[in-house]
Amino acid sequence: MNAPRHLPSGFLWGAATSAHQTEGNNTNSNWWHLENSPTSPFAEPSGAGVDSFHRYPEDMRLLAEAGLDAYRFSIEWARIEPRPGEFSTEALRHYRSMISTARELGLTPVVTLHHFTTPMWFSQRGGWAAPDAAARFASYAAKAAEILGDVEWICTINEPNMIALLAEMPKKLEAASAQTGALDDRAIAGFALPAPSDEVTQVLIDAHRSAFEVLRARTDARLGWTVSGQAFEAEPGSEEILAVLKHSWEDRYLEVARDDDFIGVQSYTTRRIGPDGLIPYSVEEQLTMTGWPNRPDAVGASIRNAWDRSGHTDVLVTENGIATADEAERVAYMEGALDAVDAAVADGIDVRGYLHWSALDNYEWGEWGPTFGLIAVDRGTFARSPRPSLAWLGGVAREHRESVSVHWPAQEKRSRV
Ligand code: BGC
Repeated sequence: MNAPRHLPSGFLWGAATSAHQTEGNNTNSNWWHLENSPTSPFAEPSGAGVDSFHRYPEDMRLLAEAGLDAYRFSIEWARIEPRPGEFSTEALRHYRSMISTARELGLTPVVTLHHFTTPMWFSQRGGWAAPDAAARFASYAAKAAEILGDVEWICTINEPNMIALLAEMPKKLEAASAQTGALDDRAIAGFALPAPSDEVTQVLIDAHRSAFEVLRARTDARLGWTVSGQAFEAEPGSEEILAVLKHSWEDRYLEVARDDDFIGVQSYTTRRIGPDGLIPYSVEEQLTMTGWPNRPDAVGASIRNAWDRSGHTDVLVTENGIATADEAERVAYMEGALDAVDAAVADGIDVRGYLHWSALDNYEWGEWGPTFGLIAVDRGTFARSPRPSLAWLGGVAREHRESVSVHWPAQEKRSRV
């Protein structure tokens, strides 16, 4: 592939992970407890993860050597605040080292404060339904800000729409496990999902806004949250239902980003809407290891929707990827996705970067099967093996940086519309 032609200089080329999915032994978190309870709904626990807690310098070095210049990772609230109001200097020091290591390697750190997991104590006090949930999150953000002074990009909350949906999930999951016996992504994908909870949505908006204020006062970072884009498509005659669902699942979270510095777009596939709402994926579609249709064009639709609904807030693609064991399929997916990103920029949308999900094969919230990584990991030895797709994406990044420096050596960052 030739480097996309319309992407601006300073465009971030990177990959993403989250703490719980890679670090290992996140024992103080609500997910750890869920995974290890005798009545766990999950097929497998996260266990030692891929040991990125210790091996992050190697992970980052592989990304940088391949040609990437950004790394999105999350810091773990459950480690930083193991007991309410008690902060771990050791954990803060650890995440500060991650930020410094990224910088030293030439990777722009994009730091997420909350990627699905919370401290166990937060969960025991009612999670996002507790009256002081937003204030608790803001207090964690204030402490975290002590190590984030020089970070340029901060995501407060990862996929609030999925968190609010998960809050409604238990009933659906029970039904799913009754029919399939195991709750992997494929089982979940096959079922009609509930709408995100309105109450939890409101708390998450409050938490985002409070953390935003705290971080604005203490850092120079660009601040935003990341929203899971569904690239909804209506069957003929179901356009009105689509509009209602799209608002509930996605648009109300994008509208919050009107006053933010950027909106993180996360896209994997599309979802079809019929007269009865979401249509479960069918085997006639080309399904990936997570049971989702292979739709690289979805990211274009999600970028355009985020731009429109947020009133033209800068877009950062914070996640996009495919779970596959076939490298040709992964590269073809990225090629299609980058064409869609390029076309959006050609149409005047400010897209600031592309962060592929995922840097490494990692724990896919209940199972280890689906492989999203640009880097494979042997879970017995933790040995890392970069896949051809990593070299491919790094090559596109290099080519883009070179072409930009030839054509627009002094191009300024375009100002926000
Ligand atoms: C989440 C990731 C997850 C990915 C693939 C996103 O919703 O942010 O944690 O691994 O999708 O399922």
